[in-house]
Amino acid sequence: MKQIAEETTQAAPLRFPEGFRWGAATAAYQIEGAATEDGRGPSIWDGFARRPGRVHGGHTGDVACDHYRRYREDVGLMRELGIGTYRFSIAWPRVKPDGTGPVNTRGLDFYDRLVDELLAAGIEPMATLYHWDLPLALEHGGRDGWGNRDTAAYFADYAAVTAARLGDRIGTWTTLNEPWCAAFLGYASGDHAPGRTDNRTAFRAAHHLMLGHGLAAQALRAAGVRELSLTLNLARISPADPADPHDRAAARHVDGVLNRIFLDPALRGEYPADMLALFDRFGATDAIHDGDLPTIATPIDLLGINYYQPALVKAQIGAPATPMYPGTEGVAFLPLPGPVTYMGWHIDPTGLSDLLLRLSHDYPGTPLMVTENGAAYYDEPDGDRVADPDRIAYLDGHLRAVHAALTAGADVRGYLAWSFLDNFEWAFGYDKRFGLVYVDYPTQRRIPKDSALWYRTLTRTNTL
Ligand code: NOJ
Repeated sequence: MKQIAEETTQAAPLRFPEGFRWGAATAAYQIEGAATEDGRGPSIWDGFARRPGRVHGGHTGDVACDHYRRYREDVGLMRELGIGTYRFSIAWPRVKPDGTGPVNTRGLDFYDRLVDELLAAGIEPMATLYHWDLPLALEHGGRDGWGNRDTAAYFADYAAVTAARLGDRIGTWTTLNEPWCAAFLGYASGDHAPGRTDNRTAFRAAHHLMLGHGLAAQALRAAGVRELSLTLNLARISPADPADPHDRAAARHVDGVLNRIFLDPALRGEYPADMLALFDRFGATDAIHDGDLPTIATPIDLLGINYYQPALVKAQIGAPATPMYPGTEGVAFLPLPGPVTYMGWHIDPTGLSDLLLRLSHDYPGTPLMVTENGAAYYDEPDGDRVADPDRIAYLDGHLRAVHAALTAGADVRGYLAWSFLDNFEWAFGYDKRFGLVYVDYPTQRRIPKDSALWYRTLTRTNTL
């Protein structure tokens, strides 16, 4: 730990291992636009964004970064900026507009063109199958979205047809992005689509998402894909007073609902006992059928970690539950001291090094990759330049933390910045800019920010 503290604060040049994968990430609904093009069906986000008051400014993903039409230009920019691995997501409602039924070939054609363009540019494509854009037809008409067990099987069907078309050229596949957000922001707090607030459905959704992961993983294996992964949003959850058993229990509870509820089934083939008790408390245990856990634990080759900020919690009598963490009555989230990003998220790179080491220790044997890390700041162009020193400092600090974890023995294979482009930041709309590349939405002009140029030097030299 001492070594980590030193490495994260000193400024000596740091070399990353040979073959370390550098890149950037995006997601379909956040950048593509072209919401009705070539037979795409609506997703739960199209529906949610149209509901008054759900998304800041009434923004939608209808146009977004117009990447669907501008992908050639965007891939050209990636090449210039030295992006080696590009993590993007495939929109289920482009491939199967109603979620089930016949394949919409024109939807798959887009990803076919994108992948060919990436390969021609020497960029490794890494595809995520689910980044929150569930076909709306699976939510509507009482079909209950991820609350319905059938959704998991439909997801695996979609995974199979997509891999059959693209598996010859995409080596690395990710089933789900951040199932915690899909389940608990989507069905417990209602901050994300489909905007529901029902803890029972949220727990059922969490399980069905993981079942979908397992079934899709089997389908992808059968299709012969080279590298299979799952991406989770994980964080270090610390007790305010580590000596206080109540604070420790509070931290353990939040750690359960954010981290262990996904890590344990995927990597150990079991739910932790405290999480089974929560399934029970919210009447969701019957969602877990015999045989599900071995399916969910289908071996993966890589665990993707999306990291933004840690949390600090304290036991506090009478504190109401935080809706996105069901069952947290009596737990208070404390503000952390120090700088925050434009999201108001606390900046603490030690949260990332601690997390990577904890995963290596608690779930040994699965290589790790940081599949998202980055920050929103208030960026403004000055002519052709966007100066974003705060983002550079954020990335620099977190990469020092990754290096420190590597030095301490964590098996980290790569790092992908979030995000390649400014984009639709879900319920926050377009005001929160996470990109290495600035997007001027009225003209769709792209301007690489200073951070993109800084990142290019880093990825070219493999040295920070
Ligand atoms: C995680 C999500 O995967 C991504 O879609 C989102 O934009 C970033 N975090 C930033 O909030």
